[in-house]
Amino acid sequence: MENNTITLINNSTGEKFNFDLINCTRGPKAIDFGKLFERTGIFSYDPGYASTAGCKSTISYIDGNNGILLYRGIPIQDLVSKYKFTDICQLLISDKLPKNDIESKEFDLELRQLGFLHEGLINIFKAFPDGAHPMANLSSAVGALSTFYKDYVDISDDNGYQMMAKRMIAKITTLVAFSYRNSIGYPYIYPDISRSYVENFLYMLRAFPYGKLGVNIDGEVEIDPLEVEALDKIFSLHAEHGQNASTTTVRNVASTGVHPYAAISAGINALWGPSHGGANEKVLNQLAEIDDVSNVPKFIDRVKDKNDPFRLMGFGHRVYKSYDPRAKAIKNLKDELDKKGIKMNAKFSDIAEKLEEVALKDEYFIERKLYPNVDFYSGIILTALKIPVSLFTPIFVIGRMPGWCSQVIEHIKSGARITRPRQVYEGK
Ligand code: CMC
Repeated sequence: MENNTITLINNSTGEKFNFDLINCTRGPKAIDFGKLFERTGIFSYDPGYASTAGCKSTISYIDGNNGILLYRGIPIQDLVSKYKFTDICQLLISDKLPKNDIESKEFDLELRQLGFLHEGLINIFKAFPDGAHPMANLSSAVGALSTFYKDYVDISDDNGYQMMAKRMIAKITTLVAFSYRNSIGYPYIYPDISRSYVENFLYMLRAFPYGKLGVNIDGEVEIDPLEVEALDKIFSLHAEHGQNASTTTVRNVASTGVHPYAAISAGINALWGPSHGGANEKVLNQLAEIDDVSNVPKFIDRVKDKNDPFRLMGFGHRVYKSYDPRAKAIKNLKDELDKKGIKMNAKFSDIAEKLEEVALKDEYFIERKLYPNVDFYSGIILTALKIPVSLFTPIFVIGRMPGWCSQVIEHIKSGARITRPRQVYEGK
C-alpha cells in the first residue's frame, strides 16, 4: 500500500510528526499542513505562496513545465478552436458545454439581455474625471453593483449563483465600454441586443462619434466578423488560470463573507498591477519605447544589468517554466489575422518577435526559464482591433470574469474558513 504521509523531523528536539499527503487528479501532491501549528507550534513560511496550495479546485489545471492549460479538464487549444467565449463561460460556471448551437445561442442571448445597467450606476462613472484609468472606474462600478443586487448568493440555490455569475459576465462588457467612454468624455452607448455578446462590446466602444474608432461616413459602426472572432478568442484565452494573484484575492475577500461582487471588485484591483494583468498595457508602452528592431540588443542588456530595474514585460511567469500555451495561441492568432487582412502594426510585431528570438537564445532567459506569457503578443492584436491601450487590462477583466465567478462560487460552496495567514515577527 502506498504510504501517503510525510514525516517532519525537528532536528533540535528529535520529535517526528507525520502529515498526510493529499492526492490530486493531476499534478504534484500537497502536504496537509492545516494542523501544522496546532501539532508542532511552528508555522510554514512561504512568501508569495510559491509552494502553497490555498484551496482544492476542479476548475482549471496548469502544467507549467509542459505548457499545458485545461479548463474543466479540456485543453484550451481544443476549446478555443471549437467554442465561443460565451460557451466557455458556460463551461466554467456550470461545468457544462452547450450541447448544440441552439443552447449556445440561448446562453449568448441571455447574457445580452442581462447586459443593461441600472441608470443609477451611471452616476459612478460621472464622478470620475476625464483621463481616469478605466480600471479604477471599473473596480468601483463592480463594487457598486453589490448595492443594486443586494442578495448574497444562496449556495443551496444552483440558479441563484448561476444568475450572479451571468449578471456579472453580462454587465462587465457594458461597464468596460462605459468606463472607457467616460474617460474620454464620450456619451454612453447602450447595449444592442441584436448583436452577439462580443460584437455588442465592440459596438458599444465604437459607435459615435464619427471616425474615431470605426464609424463610417454613413454613421454605420464597422465591425468585421474577423475582429469579433479574434476578440472572442482573446477573451477565451484569458478566461481562467488557477490561483493567480487576482483569483486568490477574489477567494480571500469572499472568505470573509462579503457580497461576491465586492470580492470580484477586489480582484479587478489586483489584476491592474503590472506584474499581473497590467502587463499587457506595459508591453505595448515598452514596444513603443524600444522603437526599432535595432534597439533590441540594448534593451536585452538592460534586462541583464543588475543595477537597472528594467524587466521585459510580457515575459516570465511564476508557474510556466516553458512557453505559455496562451502566448503560443495568441502569437499564432496574430499571424493568422495579419494574413487574413487585419493588419498588425509591423514595427511592434517585428520588435516583439526579435525580442523573443534574442531572449530565447540568451543565457539569462534560458537559466531562469523566462518565456513570453499571455500578455506579450495580445496588445499587438488589440491595437489592430482599434482597442485603446488603456483598455487592454479591462479586456483581461472581461476575459477573466467567468474564471473569477466560478472560483468565487467554488470557494463559497466549499465552506472554506476565512483566509488568515500568519507572520514571522521580526519587530521590537
Ligand atoms: N524580465 C527580466 N527578468 C525577469 C523577468 C522579466 N520579465 N521575470 C523574471 N525575471 C527574473 C528575475 O529578475 C529573477 O532573476 P534573479 O533570480 O536573478 O533575481 C528571476 O527571473 C525570477 O523572477 P521572480 O520575480 O522571482 O519571478 P516571480 O515568479 O516572482 O514573478 C512575474 C513572475 C510574472 C511577476 C515576473 O516574471 C515578471 O515580473 N514578469 C514581467 C511582468 C509580466 O509580464 N507579468 C504578466 C504575467 S502573465 C499574466 C498574468 O497572469 O497576469
